Amino acid sequence: METIRWGIIGAGGIAERFAEACKNTPGASLEAIASRNLEKANAFGDKFGIEHRFGSYEAMAQWDGIDAAYVATPHATHGPFAMLFMNHGKAILSEKPISVNCTELQKMIDSATENKVFMMEAMWARLAPGTIKLLEVVKSGVIGEVKGIQAAFCYDMSDEPDHHAFNPLYGGGSVLDVGCYALSFASWLMDSPIANISAEAELGVTGVDVHCCMLIKYESGAIASLTSAMLLRKPGDGYVFGDKGYIKTTDRFYAPQEFTVFVDGQEPQVYKCPFLGNGFEEQILEVNRCLREGKLESDMIPHAQSMKIMGQMDDIRKIIGVKYPQDMDCAWTPVGTE
Ligand SMILES: NC(=O)c1ccc[n+]([C@@H]2O[C@H](COP(=O)([O-])OP(=O)(O)OC[C@H]3O[C@@H](n4cnc5c(N)ncnc54)[C@H](OP(=O)(O)O)[C@@H]3O)[C@@H](O)[C@H]2O)c1
Repeated sequence: METIRWGIIGAGGIAERFAEACKNTPGASLEAIASRNLEKANAFGDKFGIEHRFGSYEAMAQWDGIDAAYVATPHATHGPFAMLFMNHGKAILSEKPISVNCTELQKMIDSATENKVFMMEAMWARLAPGTIKLLEVVKSGVIGEVKGIQAAFCYDMSDEPDHHAFNPLYGGGSVLDVGCYALSFASWLMDSPIANISAEAELGVTGVDVHCCMLIKYESGAIASLTSAMLLRKPGDGYVFGDKGYIKTTDRFYAPQEFTVFVDGQEPQVYKCPFLGNGFEEQILEVNRCLREGKLESDMIPHAQSMKIMGQMDDIRKIIGVKYPQDMDCAWTPVGTE
């Protein structure tokens, strides 16, 4: 399996960034695009020079011209579409969050296991050169023991009130949409088990969180203060505080292309870590590498890591009272149905 043949599920916004990256990734070939509408698939195919276009996801799932499919659809559809393709033997790279709750993620993992296919969450930021360097610097001990983390991913989508990111049927809300990056960032930095999670949120008119502040207390004593929002902007800088110094990332804390290390009595040290292309190339390379090695999951973004973050998001949604129809299958009882 020298060249990995890719197909994209859903001709939406983020699919464009993936298409651009896939075209730019050695060893990857972007073979197909599937949309629920053939005209849309054709327009996307024309824009990115993709030869094969499908007017239904099922048709591409049945086609034997791809090895891997990238799921680029609304949150609550990741599970069903990923399982459709896995049932046809295709490897899956699914957009974040990989599912809407732990119960559904477990079904996806079971499907991957039964079908003996690879599956990975598209948590591209974990593979960004800046993240890898930042984790290396923290691990070196230069800032001492990590005692605090601060990160906010907040954006304003008030001009798109009908977007699926606000819709509970589609797993909407700021925690699932962007809080997953802040929770992931904290989890990459902290080895200590979590002692407690607390959260406060403002729920919007559709019943999902539009602003959520999360506090994670670790058994080591460290505390992470994380924020997600969809109707207001906050700076995207992140901080990692150690007992000997601290690190400040410049914007996009979860995939920093630049960060600075401050240690008392020393000159600040700046690290510059540009993406290979638009930032998505590394995750395509990682899937390609795993498929060539016959692996069913990535060591960098394993199923257990996705499950860990999904469990935290289930807990946070329970605290703030956000429930989805899909939760009715869940082990926990959604607030309001007890
Ligand atoms: N990694 C990142 O940096 C990043 C950034 C933004 C978004 N995302 C994630 O990417 C996923 C897609 O987000 P997006 O911003 O690309 O959304 P989008 O622009 O709305 O595109 C989503 C696509 O999903 C398909 N789709 C299938 N069923 C659908 C349904 N019932 N309703 C609406 N669309 C449906 C549609 O494609 P067809 O009409 O062609 O079938 C649609 O164009 C989400 O999970 C989001 O969290 C990731």
